[in-house]
Amino acid sequence: MFPKLLVIAIAFILNAILSPFAYADSETEAHKLINAQGCKACHTLDGNGGVTAGSFEAMRDKLTRAQVRSQLVNPERKHGNDKIPDFSHLSENEIDVLVNFIQPKP
Ligand code: HEC
Repeated sequence: MFPKLLVIAIAFILNAILSPFAYADSETEAHKLINAQGCKACHTLDGNGGVTAGSFEAMRDKLTRAQVRSQLVNPERKHGNDKIPDFSHLSENEIDVLVNFIQPKP
């Protein structure tokens, strides 16, 4: 029988090698969404974009993941005093990508 510990060790090593790529992927995905959805018409990212609303970097220091999510989708479809568009057309996965990017801390 193939030793169980070896299988676990291989899985562990593979995971360690591959997980940085998974992170880079979701970051790229978030950047694509932010560009495609026009968030930068109003928000800044990496120092470029609109100034009517705050930068994504600043949100990291003050918003929980739940607060970020509810700015994008909520049952009333009202966000930030109606100044931010509704993003209910995005898939659950796309919302997760944005929320994880804006607030990476759990
Ligand atoms: C038409 C302009 C506009 C666009 C486009 C826009 N936003 Fe906003 N957003 C705002 C405004 C204005 C606020 C601040 C609302 C307020 O004063 O409470 C805001 C607030 C937010 C907040 C909460 C920030 C905070 O400090 O409380 C998040 C998170 C957010 N936007 C994410 C996004 C994302 C992600 C996108 C693109 C998918 C996006 N916004 C697109 C205008 C916009």
